[in-house]
Amino acid sequence: MRRIDCRSNIAGLRVFPSKRFSKVERIVLIFYLIARKFILVRPKKIMLLGSGELGKEFVIAVKRLGHYVIAVDSYNDAPAQQVADEREVIDMLNGNALDAIVAKHQPDLIVPEIEAIRTERFYEYEEQGIQVVPSARAANFTMNRRAIRDLASRDLGLRTANYRYAASLEELQRAVAEVGTPCVVKPLMSSSGKGQSTVKSEADIEKAWSYSQSGKRGDSAEVIVESFVNFHTEITLLTVTQKNGTTLFCPPIGHRQERGDYQESWQPCLISEAQLQEAREIADRVTRSLTGAGTWGVEFFLADDGVYFSELSPRPHDTGMVTLAGTQNLSEFELHARAVLGLPIPEITLIQVGASAVILADKAGTNPQYIGVDEALREAGTDIRIFGKPVTRPYRRMGVALAYDQLGSDVDVVKERAIANARKVTVVTE
Ligand SMILES: Nc1ncnc2c1ncn2[C@@H]1O[C@H](COP(=O)(O)OP(=O)(O)OP(=O)(O)O)[C@@H](O)[C@H]1O
Ligand SMILES: [Mg+2]
Repeated sequence: MRRIDCRSNIAGLRVFPSKRFSKVERIVLIFYLIARKFILVRPKKIMLLGSGELGKEFVIAVKRLGHYVIAVDSYNDAPAQQVADEREVIDMLNGNALDAIVAKHQPDLIVPEIEAIRTERFYEYEEQGIQVVPSARAANFTMNRRAIRDLASRDLGLRTANYRYAASLEELQRAVAEVGTPCVVKPLMSSSGKGQSTVKSEADIEKAWSYSQSGKRGDSAEVIVESFVNFHTEITLLTVTQKNGTTLFCPPIGHRQERGDYQESWQPCLISEAQLQEAREIADRVTRSLTGAGTWGVEFFLADDGVYFSELSPRPHDTGMVTLAGTQNLSEFELHARAVLGLPIPEITLIQVGASAVILADKAGTNPQYIGVDEALREAGTDIRIFGKPVTRPYRRMGVALAYDQLGSDVDVVKERAIANARKVTVVTE
């Protein structure tokens, strides 16, 4: 009979025969098995910085994998906080406040969900051994349009809209003269179209300057002036960089913007194989330069004269909410969860065609309630997500209507269904 070494049968670990292993080997093996069982599967403590609707879906994805989340935002009861283990309410642009919660919770991972964070601090957190998602460099570069634009255009030589920077009304007048009209003026720090406007003639410049100053975030007055790209299609290419694996790409997502904010998105967006290939190469180069693992939303303008790199989010993208319609085997949030946790992603496949359309508030109010959800859900192949934001503002995104159909269906029809369903839902407030 084979002799079994019972000392190796600790805590239910598989036994192994002592004859085959030397004493040293057995000790190493025991330590390895213990580590595998008790250390490697330990739930990770994840600090989510920004707790909006995208963060909420990310929290759900990591909670499904058994991890622990502290959701942070500048106001209480933000969407992701409602599904997280713990919450913190701080001003994330305040570096000391950020340091204090990082010291208090000692997270394994910091996952930024927004750009308005004192991201300079991230480099230090990385040195302390905390994993910043996707990396301190990526989060820091993308919070400011100047850093990412200079990297893309100057350092990587990618095709972008012609651009200049301006820090005063006089500089803006000069920049517009150099770039030409029409052009787009955006604060260097802003998102979702805030402070962004199009200058069609000289008469618009003063208005564009004051609008940029009212919509900017942080204390820099500087704006970027971009020549208007006459694109026929605008896409987000969700790109997944992995710790131990190659970079993966989701099928392209088409979208339509109004006031600089997305209204509908659909997947797949049919584009030429050559443009898809070019977009993938650009996304690969930019994400590689920024380093780190996670899902990125890389935005492109497709024009008759080629593919223009626009900007990118080092995190799931709002237009990527279409993946909540079950368009892929893994949603962009599940992909982000796996990528940041270093878990395998064997493949990304298109399962069905889908679309998303935003549900917006029309005025400021509190305790929002929703009329028409039952009506919207009556039709097969539709779904609704209500984010649970406690307060409304004009044009604030409060939910999203989703529609889907089997592969090969007309994506335009699916998109119209999502739009029609979003219109069925009305936000009422006190
Ligand atoms: N140079 C340009 N030419 C034509 N359209 C533009 C240009 N720049 C921006 N836009 C339009 O405005 C939208 C928003 O611009 P951009 O993505 O730069 O701003 P944002 O505030 O970062 O938006 P978000 O955070 O929602 O991605 C673009 O998706 C595009 O539709
Ligand atoms: Mg954008």
